[in-house]
Amino acid sequence: MHADIRSLMLPHLVEAEAYAAIDPPEVLAREAGIPEDQVIKLDGNENLYGPSPKVKEALAAYKSYHIYPDPQQRKVRQALAGYIGSSPDRIAAGVGSDELIDLLLRLFVGPGDAVIQCVPTFAMYATFTQLVGGRLVSVPRTETFDVDVQAVRQAAKSGAKVIFLTSPNNPTGNLVSEEVVRQLLELGAVVIVDEAYSEFAGQSVSSLAPQYSNLVVLRTFSKWAGLAGLRIGYGVMDPAIAERLLVIKPPYNITVASEVALLASLEDKALLLSRVANIVQERDWLFAQLQRMPNLTPIPSSANFILCRLSQTKAQRVYKELARKGIFVRYYDNPLLRDYIRASVGLRRHNQALVTALHNILSEGAI
Ligand SMILES: Cc1ncc(COP(=O)(O)O)c(C=O)c1O
Repeated sequence: MHADIRSLMLPHLVEAEAYAAIDPPEVLAREAGIPEDQVIKLDGNENLYGPSPKVKEALAAYKSYHIYPDPQQRKVRQALAGYIGSSPDRIAAGVGSDELIDLLLRLFVGPGDAVIQCVPTFAMYATFTQLVGGRLVSVPRTETFDVDVQAVRQAAKSGAKVIFLTSPNNPTGNLVSEEVVRQLLELGAVVIVDEAYSEFAGQSVSSLAPQYSNLVVLRTFSKWAGLAGLRIGYGVMDPAIAERLLVIKPPYNITVASEVALLASLEDKALLLSRVANIVQERDWLFAQLQRMPNLTPIPSSANFILCRLSQTKAQRVYKELARKGIFVRYYDNPLLRDYIRASVGLRRHNQALVTALHNILSEGAI
């Protein structure tokens, strides 16, 4: 027996902060005191169309759940190479793109090594950097939330190992241009371009991978393909990086269920991409509605969510009022985003409910 078991833990992990993850619908329903089927969940940038119907059929028909998945991910990497226009040796798949962020940091970053992120951005880069004992360097974005290239250059001078770029960025929704990606690749650090929302933007830098051995492009099936719950992401990169990721990953990381779902999704790509087009149309409709709201400014987005600035530090109260009505958006308890909420784009009925609720909250002085 040990008096203080924490004293045996690694100090940097005892101090590590948890990623502020989102709660599942049943917890949200309990909080709001409503039935689960009345929850409008716009807090996780999930795809409210759900998966392709072919996924459900394929999962039901699959016969070999008792056999381990292929540790070399052969079928998956072949299919992904066809989808993204690359070759299988440049591809590695993970349990969501989250796992690839983790594995890449483990591959490249040791204690004290610098990792650059451009804030505000996806919080998982910080979470996983602290797990490897890396030194996180947060470079603020410009007023328009663009990457401050000069400031990143300056920060990289003392020898950064990894630079995260996110395109479209979460939570701001804006893209990083190919020109900026190229400029930062020239610095020599590993540049991870996280394209989780790429299908909604119709833009990708994955075709640059053969030109730059230090470029890794991350993609996921969580957003465009509606498979967030099955956890499957992938990266396109130099074959030497992909080969190492396949060695250091847990051997059976992606499950056969996610493998089956991925292959069925790619077979139904046309349907899924038509849903993406609908979500993009909905995003533009929602943006126009939000622009008319008093005390609220939506930020233009190339993804499936919209960040909204609320004047007079009302963001947290608006978030709470929406939650009371069963509409869950994302609020960040962080100085850079204190005046903002982020709403995912759902189907028209969800978006309409959000617009009506926001309108009532903001115009009728409910707060
Ligand atoms: C920018 C960004 N990258 C990665 C992820 C993680 O995606 P996955 O579900 O593939 O782990 C998210 C999820 O919200 C995200 O916003």
